[in-house]
Amino acid sequence: MDVVMPVWVQLVFLLCAVCFILALKGLSGPRTARAGNLLGAGAAVVACAVPFFWSELDLDHVALMLVAIAIGTVGGVVGAQKVTMTQMPQMVALFNGVGGGAAALVALLELHHMLEEQSAFPGIDLFNWFVYAATAFTIVVGSVSFAGSIVTFAKLQELMTSRPVTFPGLPFLFGGSFVVAVALSVQLVQSPAMWIGILLALLGLVIGVLLVLPVGGADVPIVISLLNAFTGLTVAAGGYVLNNTVLLVAGTLVGASGTFLTLLMAGAMGRSVANILFGALRGGSTLGAGEASERPVRSAGPEDVAILLGYADRVIIVPGYGLAVAQAQHTLRELVDVLIARGTKVDYAIHPVAGRMPGHMNVLLAEAQVPYERLIEMDEINSEFKQTDVVLVVGANDVVNPAARTTPSAPIYGMPILNADEAQQVVFMKRSMRPGFAGIENELLFDPRTTLLFGDAKDSLGKLLNAVKAL
Ligand code: TAP
Repeated sequence: MDVVMPVWVQLVFLLCAVCFILALKGLSGPRTARAGNLLGAGAAVVACAVPFFWSELDLDHVALMLVAIAIGTVGGVVGAQKVTMTQMPQMVALFNGVGGGAAALVALLELHHMLEEQSAFPGIDLFNWFVYAATAFTIVVGSVSFAGSIVTFAKLQELMTSRPVTFPGLPFLFGGSFVVAVALSVQLVQSPAMWIGILLALLGLVIGVLLVLPVGGADVPIVISLLNAFTGLTVAAGGYVLNNTVLLVAGTLVGASGTFLTLLMAGAMGRSVANILFGALRGGSTLGAGEASERPVRSAGPEDVAILLGYADRVIIVPGYGLAVAQAQHTLRELVDVLIARGTKVDYAIHPVAGRMPGHMNVLLAEAQVPYERLIEMDEINSEFKQTDVVLVVGANDVVNPAARTTPSAPIYGMPILNADEAQQVVFMKRSMRPGFAGIENELLFDPRTTLLFGDAKDSLGKLLNAVKAL
């Protein structure tokens, strides 16, 4: 039977729920994000600690729980400290998958308890149908989230190909598994049994794998966000089953914010979520192969680029994934400082999906102490490119590729881009003529107003910095 929640527990959970909401609010701005993160993490620690002080719960296996918490804490802390910025999406995928898997396991365990309790009172219905429906939902969707997240992790960590994986019959296998999962969930509500719960978990794992296999590497971060929303919903349903308000609130917040983030990311890439998930099944690969072009381009050395930059009145920096790979953010900030000291007006243009995760460039540049006021969002800065002397594109490609406007067959067609092509001069810093993540050629590289400075961004920026200082 459910243990009645004492008033002090209700109050603590209410406080935790308020902290989660304030944490989300804090996370929505760079200045308050750190405090928001700490507030949310603190509330989560308090919520997890409550059962140990709630005497009526009469906990079993306390020692095992503490060992599990210790293992999780060490894994989380060490993992978070070791992970590099470019590996952050796979870290999020892994944490999210573990959350979904935990929710599914808790729901299976709870089903076992419910069946035990019910068998002691054969004549009375102890649990209403909705509790069983929520349990089935948690088991299936939690397993989907776990398996899907593991596949996204493997794709991003390059443990498997990051290209879309499809095979004949995949849509039928996916659709069939989905229909059987719904039918079994109905069966669980009508005549609950443990074997149904276990089958649902296995089906969830199959659905999770089949859902993510056809997604191409460039779209994987969006699927991570979607799976994150799934985990939130399972946790919320788990909170209902366990009669735990703090789980219900936290899960709903994660579910809602994950859904919004997914829609915003898909919108920023000019794609629908359905196209991202099922595009490859219809034959339209979501990730190009990415051959390096052999067409002639105009390249220059750091000294020539230094002259362009040093005598410009207005410069816009377009940072991208390559900046994060090269870890060149500090050298870039130093270069910008020198240019500003010379009287040049310099800003950073931030595309919503530059890099590989939401806010990637903001976090990277904040790490190098770039003032927030210099990071200008795409919509705000796009009208300024026309009056700009030089755009310095550092390790970015897709986010300035005009094919998004002009080539309907391009995978990025419809994605809003930064109007770098409207500036007087464009300088690209990259290592080769290989394309960006979408795998398509960028016409702007061949424009007569474009200059390429080949090399690793950190190395090139160092030389550029010295050359500008020497002007
Ligand atoms: P990309 O189009 O991937 O271009 C990155 C560029 O960096 C490449 O041209 C690469 O050229 C260069 N590069 C890599 N390492 C470098 C290094 N060490 N030094 C110098 N250059 C280096 O990046 P982007 O413009 O930031 O666009 C992001 C892409 O990711 C978009 O297609 C977007 O849709 C996708 N995406 C983003 C997100 C989020 S939320 N950010 C989510 C899903 C998908 P070389 O190899 O020639 O050096």
